[in-house]
Amino acid sequence: MMDTPFNRRIHNFGAGPSLLPEAVLRELQESLWNYQGTGMGIMEINHRSPIFDQILSELEERFRTLLRLPSSKNILFLPGGASYQFAMIPLHLLAGAPAGFVHTGHWTQKAMDEAKRVGEICVVASSEKEKFYSLPSVENLETSPSLSYLHYCSNNTIEGTQWNSFKKKTNTALVIDMSSDFLSRDLDWSSFDLVFAGLQKNLGAASLSISVAEKYLFETKPKLTLPHFLHWSEHLAAGSRLNTPHTLGLYLALLMLRWIESSGGISSIEKRNQQKADEFYHFIDSSSLFWAPVQKEDRSRMNLVFDLRETNLALSQRLLKEANTAGFAALEGHRVRGGFRASFYNSQSLESVRELIQFLTEFERRA
Ligand SMILES: Cc1ncc(COP(=O)(O)O)c(C=O)c1O
Repeated sequence: MMDTPFNRRIHNFGAGPSLLPEAVLRELQESLWNYQGTGMGIMEINHRSPIFDQILSELEERFRTLLRLPSSKNILFLPGGASYQFAMIPLHLLAGAPAGFVHTGHWTQKAMDEAKRVGEICVVASSEKEKFYSLPSVENLETSPSLSYLHYCSNNTIEGTQWNSFKKKTNTALVIDMSSDFLSRDLDWSSFDLVFAGLQKNLGAASLSISVAEKYLFETKPKLTLPHFLHWSEHLAAGSRLNTPHTLGLYLALLMLRWIESSGGISSIEKRNQQKADEFYHFIDSSSLFWAPVQKEDRSRMNLVFDLRETNLALSQRLLKEANTAGFAALEGHRVRGGFRASFYNSQSLESVRELIQFLTEFERRA
């Protein structure tokens, strides 16, 4: 087949929505036209039909198995992405005591801004002084006042930091925004009270989220009188189908879960993610042109942030232009930070990472 812009794929290092595996895209393409011989495309199938019942129940079952979720945990698929949960969480849980935040960058700021509209918040630890290029010490969390819940962001997509473990204050519900590293590593799910994530990084569709929590949390009633659509318990009772759900996005998440399983499961994915990050950071740390501003032990394996050692706008722009021409897309840092960022979500292959390193090595030689 002739190589044209319409049949060629490039290396996509975007932070989200992000790259999807070729096998998943091909299956999605077929299902859009005719889902398993039904004569209907997946987007044309009723969300309460037996066909969709099956998709939703396989999706939930696969999540349970992959994450080894205890049966006491419930799963909710909700519209509105992770930001909608920034609003829903304080509406349900912020009462009687401030909400605690471990402040690690742009996305914890957004979550705090929403929570402040509902009640009092308390920053229990912050790395703002370090420009969020490290994670704060959480040793003294026990001494802070009682909290209605404690919010962490497990992977800071923009600043490029990632927690290895989460410290819980005794008896405080631990709430984790896992939007950008969900399903990227094996975790002990029994230690979290509520985990939520937008699906557009490791699971495909934007504007859709997953939340995992003990049933009693989802059954908490908001302290204010709110429309039913804002109640977790209503969504739970309706099995994530209080209204017409994002059927295509849920189906895509199912294809992604099947792909994770066929790739060897979470532990294989985790090993591959570690190797991709190790090879890339090794290159950056050995470079005389680039450097990584994030403290070594806090570096993200999903969003790898790097800069030129000496600021040079013209050279940065040249790099991005040459990268695009060579087929390496979306390497620019987030607009609030600048610099460069390469996102290595689960779908990113080790081969693509190695080709990127090769390109940057060549660029450095010519710079
Ligand atoms: C860590 C994190 N939290 C929250 C969000 C917001 O997600 P959404 O756009 O789905 O609301 C993002 C988006 O990139 C993110 O990376």
